[in-house]
Amino acid sequence: MLITLEGIEGSGKTTQINYIAAHLKDLGHECVITKEPGGTVIGGKIRSILLDPENKSIDPLAELLLYAADRVQHIKEFIAPALESGKIVICDRFCDSTTVYQGFTRGVDIDLIHQLNKLVLKGVEPDITFILDLPPELGLERAWNQINNGSRSVMETRFEKEKLCFHENVRKGYLKLAKKEPDRFVVIDASVEEALVREAIIGKLKEFLILRKM
Ligand code: TMP
Repeated sequence: MLITLEGIEGSGKTTQINYIAAHLKDLGHECVITKEPGGTVIGGKIRSILLDPENKSIDPLAELLLYAADRVQHIKEFIAPALESGKIVICDRFCDSTTVYQGFTRGVDIDLIHQLNKLVLKGVEPDITFILDLPPELGLERAWNQINNGSRSVMETRFEKEKLCFHENVRKGYLKLAKKEPDRFVVIDASVEEALVREAIIGKLKEFLILRKM
């Protein structure tokens, strides 16, 4: 089973992913946490190009292909073997980030992104996706606080440096996806305090596991 988390900058995915893993482990499931971009050694190198604030001039198509390259490597080396061995994989961002950031927000042709996703994913698709939703002003404030206090790297701020309207479009893009596929997406209000976000996610996860008889 593949669980993914999505959301704008500062939405708290990285914190919440640990709660999901702890809950699943308590229930006796074997699970692993990973992220995109950068879930492999090669992916880590691609990540540093993608998030480097100095790479402002990167072409949207080049950006798309780098995310795709990261994902190909990640699925081959990490995700597919983990799924095949029966583990639950929890991934911080996945293919929906590409649709929303490169497609809806940067304006790369959506059909091209769908075709590329097909080629890259080879049938590996999320079973459930949590979208951590909050106003971009709040997300960016949280993200910059983490950058300024050193808990996030200043070398990975290319997206945080985008204008507010970019982040508003990302948020709208996620909500549009959620509307189109309500069976897979769960939108969580991430503007409230961490414990309440955790409660909401774990509640929805419990319902999902019951449906799956897990
Ligand atoms: P994060 O690891 O802090 O979430 O940063 C990753 C950044 O990469 C985030 O700003 C979203 C962006 N991104 C894309 O634009 N497309 C993608 O396919 C993925 C996985 C991430």
